[in-house]
Amino acid sequence: MEVSAEKTETALASVSHMTDDRWCRWWTHDRLGGDQTAERRSSAALVPIRERLLDRARLRPADVVLDIGTGTGFVGFGALKRLGEEGRVIFNDLSSGLIDTCVRRSEQLGVTDRCSFVVADAQDLAGVESESADVATARSVLCYVADQAAAFAAIARVLRPGGRLSLFETIHVRQLAVGAPTMFGYVVPGLDRAAASVEAWLRTSTEGGSDQPTFDEIDLLVWADMAGLADAIVDVDLRFTTSAAVLTDWSAFLASRPRPWSPTIREIMSGALDAQDMTNVEDRLRPMVERGEVPRRIQSFAYLTAVKAA
Ligand SMILES: C[S@@+](CC[C@H](N)C(=O)[O-])C[C@H]1O[C@@H](n2cnc3c(N)ncnc32)[C@H](O)[C@@H]1O
Repeated sequence: MEVSAEKTETALASVSHMTDDRWCRWWTHDRLGGDQTAERRSSAALVPIRERLLDRARLRPADVVLDIGTGTGFVGFGALKRLGEEGRVIFNDLSSGLIDTCVRRSEQLGVTDRCSFVVADAQDLAGVESESADVATARSVLCYVADQAAAFAAIARVLRPGGRLSLFETIHVRQLAVGAPTMFGYVVPGLDRAAASVEAWLRTSTEGGSDQPTFDEIDLLVWADMAGLADAIVDVDLRFTTSAAVLTDWSAFLASRPRPWSPTIREIMSGALDAQDMTNVEDRLRPMVERGEVPRRIQSFAYLTAVKAA
């Protein structure tokens, strides 16, 4: 159901207190252990990605843009800035708490009349009218969706004929690091045994699993094609991570939760390590985190664009 900002806020104020809004808690707090400095660093590092995704969307002043899995509206508000007075953004997320945050932000920015808000699963986008968007955007959302083909079908449904999709995802790479085993992404000499214990513990503990996306650029092309979208093109950006370190405070690092459903790093360490390995990890990993060393891991970023045939 697409509703006005005013109605949404009233409705969401009650809903978000009733539900266990894990997505909201994770995206606004647990992901970076509640560290505001890390949050600012993380957003700054994502600006070039957002701008590239929006460049590729080829926005026109009066477009209606649907930002799927908008979170706190990082891409959605970025798109709104690029549109003219006639342009509008539909903010979508599964989390009512996150949509609530977008509503408040739109009020602070004085742009509520150009925004609407839809709480819905990306797999059906229920409540977003068919053929109502000129552009659909999504940054790092599909990796959290169980049925990506369904999400592409929903996107094809809500785009107008001639409408464009521009999305960004981190995709699977064959190998994440070169050389030594890693501990939470860091190559830390002397911690091979501890790294193996953490790996083994994550494999067997519930939902803890790997941080690795399971799909790649070919999957994205196939899903776009299956949904009937045309001219699908993926640009792949393959690199060693070069961005600056985000988390440099050891207690925030320990409190951080890599995925919404995973344990915190502190919980992983206490589950996986004996007292001796705990001391080793603190002695070796902590200085690296506090010095702001960047985990040297290989990442592959995919930018997909596609068009709904006119
Ligand atoms: C990594 S965050 C990205 C947020 C935002 N796109 C950005 O660029 O800052 C993933 C977002 O996807 C949302 N999400 C996860 N599963 C979803 C689903 N099935 N349908 C809609 N949104 C979903 C989460 O609530 C969260 O806001």
